[in-house]
Amino acid sequence: MKVIKAKSAGFCFGVKRAVDTVYEQVKENQNLPIYTYGPIIHNEEVVKDLEQKGVIVLRSEEELDTLERGTVIIRSHGVAKDVYDRLESKKIQIVDATCPFVKKIHNIVQKHSEVGENIIIIGNPEHPEVQGIKGWAGDHVEVFQTKEEAENYSCEQGKKICIVAQTTFNYNKFKELVEILEKKSYDVSVLNTICNATKERQTEAQSIAETVDAMIVIGDKHSSNTQKLFEICRKACNNTYYIQTLGDLDLNQLGSVETVGITAGASTPNNIIEEVQNNVRIIF
Ligand code: F3S
Repeated sequence: MKVIKAKSAGFCFGVKRAVDTVYEQVKENQNLPIYTYGPIIHNEEVVKDLEQKGVIVLRSEEELDTLERGTVIIRSHGVAKDVYDRLESKKIQIVDATCPFVKKIHNIVQKHSEVGENIIIIGNPEHPEVQGIKGWAGDHVEVFQTKEEAENYSCEQGKKICIVAQTTFNYNKFKELVEILEKKSYDVSVLNTICNATKERQTEAQSIAETVDAMIVIGDKHSSNTQKLFEICRKACNNTYYIQTLGDLDLNQLGSVETVGITAGASTPNNIIEEVQNNVRIIF
């Protein structure tokens, strides 16, 4: 029996950094409340564990405005400039765990908007990362993610346009939208700000799934990157299972297999992955 665990399974660099930051704050805490602005990651287990340690999740700007003291941790997705301004005006301590790759996009759009350029963010307008980026891009900013939206885009000729992408956006789709915009003969500067952590995880999962008898994908049921991983693995291996924790895995279901592959979404903690890995090893 062979168990192959994907090297890229679990937290990416930015998420790991953000989660570690919260645990460090809990350790150093001097009896002041600790908040995260939004759940630190899309993983119920981790969020519950942190809640038990006293970390409070703020879910709206209104809740931010009611704070009087304590520390607010900004998660890896980052936030709009306005959020920093609000917290600073109330003298609330900010611990910034924005992923450096996202922070870089904030700096790009801020710099380009300050010299009068229009900003285009290619990404999902509902996603908190995109909303954060938008909040650094000044007044002339548009967000879109479909071909139709790119085709309908117009601005005054001669105006410079700076195009960036949500870090998890699909590269081929980004390229397609950029090509549509370039054909309009605007003066565009394109900055490919897609992070390849997601792509690497997907590529590795697919190549493992192609060679094993059964594949296990671990992640929160609400995590869209885990759902995507599951789809990719299932296409390559019919015998693929989507679980949140070891408790969801029916080992009898796996049947008689010789090789099992394991991967996990970007918000799955290492201890959950290891627990599954160790149990699969023991059973077979
Ligand atoms: Fe950062 Fe890339 Fe993860 S942008 S949060 S390292 S997916």
